[in-house]
Amino acid sequence: MEKLLVKGGNKLRGEVTISGAKNAAVAILPACLLVKGNCRIENLPDIKDVKLFLRILEQLNADVKYIDKNTVDIDCTNVDSYRPLGELTRKMRGSSYLMGALLGRFSNFIVDPPGGCDFGTRPIDQHIKAFKTLGADIDTSKGIIEGSAENLSGGNIFFDVITVGATINAMLAATTANGVTVIENAAKEPHIVDLANFLNNMGANIRGAGTDTIKIKGTKDLHGGTYTIIPDQIEAGTFMIAAAATRGDVVLKNVIPRHLEIISAKLIEAGVNISEGEDSVRVWVNDDTKFKHINFIAMPYPGFPTDMQPQITVALGLSKGTSIVTESIFENRFKYVDELTRMGANIKVEGNTAIIDGVSRYTGANISAPDLRAGAALVLAAMSAEGFSTVDDIRYIERGYEDFHLKLQGLGAQIELIETERDLRKFKLKIG
Ligand code: EPZ
Repeated sequence: MEKLLVKGGNKLRGEVTISGAKNAAVAILPACLLVKGNCRIENLPDIKDVKLFLRILEQLNADVKYIDKNTVDIDCTNVDSYRPLGELTRKMRGSSYLMGALLGRFSNFIVDPPGGCDFGTRPIDQHIKAFKTLGADIDTSKGIIEGSAENLSGGNIFFDVITVGATINAMLAATTANGVTVIENAAKEPHIVDLANFLNNMGANIRGAGTDTIKIKGTKDLHGGTYTIIPDQIEAGTFMIAAAATRGDVVLKNVIPRHLEIISAKLIEAGVNISEGEDSVRVWVNDDTKFKHINFIAMPYPGFPTDMQPQITVALGLSKGTSIVTESIFENRFKYVDELTRMGANIKVEGNTAIIDGVSRYTGANISAPDLRAGAALVLAAMSAEGFSTVDDIRYIERGYEDFHLKLQGLGAQIELIETERDLRKFKLKIG
């Protein structure tokens, strides 16, 4: 019955260290399948999706050793299967990358359709298009996805939509294909660049990651090495919004400010103060600040990230005036608005647009996390609300945020993890 109990009203103050990027980790872990040798991965976030991926690799006979909470040695030399366990892979979207990695390693894969947050159909037609361009036959007729290729050879892939997942899968399959692959209309997120840097560190030849054209010269000789994952842009953005929504003063450490530029720009537009260090960002709000209303569209990087849409909508729900938020990536990513409305928000959703009329404050309620990022956003709303809230279904949050409630406690939030009804009574008395 795990849930979070939150008493709102405290301003977040102090320092928080941002963990490694979830969406880089779930791309780099399967990429280890392309390497016959030991890969030491540092700054790995200690989250459920990473733990699940390591179990999948072990189940494929990889040798996985934890060096510490955020450092793992992975040796896939003895991996001898291209059929990962469906009960594991169905739990997250990132497992779709096993298709590209196993195709690149064995020229074969048999996987169950991936899982992941439910805010739209989340098709894989562009992934399949990429694999077919490289010479693979794909069969989805039996409720599973099977891929096979006589020999994978380079080709020109032009994506019909900008897709992070299909860009990553194309990179994984093309890395060891014979010849040159060019990926056009590629996604440019920081985790795409991180994957390319990891693979090049292991001997691959990938150029142009972070632009809309990526060129890959296939090579079979990938060797082991050590790689440090980039800080999580979305975790950082979530804590920036938490500082703003509680009118606090927080320094985020271990960030790459360049990855946060659009988030900083929109917060400054709303009246929040931001100052950047080399690998830190300070976010604070003056006491007399009234948040201004702003409009934005969730776009592919370097646009405003769709994974930050729920969080900033929570903050805008407390700003003066009317804000318009448009979600251009996923067709159904406003489900959390129903929960936010129960906390007193005044938001009207029309198709993929939310019209937000700011209110002075939220009131505590018993709410449920509908998905990973919306779950985090609802915790932010609870911290800015009057009175107590409980947040259910926090398993979603634990998939993508390392020690989320502990980091918030460290910043002065009144938040506790509740496992029993007794805990609930005890902590309500403690928080008072
Ligand atoms: C990745 O999902 C992330 N997940 C998501 O983060 C993120 O929201 C999304 O990219 C966009 O940045 C991981 O990295 C594990 P897409 P993905 O393919 O790859 C359409 C989180 O909270 N599309 O970029 O599934 C699709 O319908 C998660 O960390 C096709 O049409 O997203 C969508 O409209 C949530 N055909 C758009 O592209 C395809 O074959 C972007 O999807 C693939 C995608």
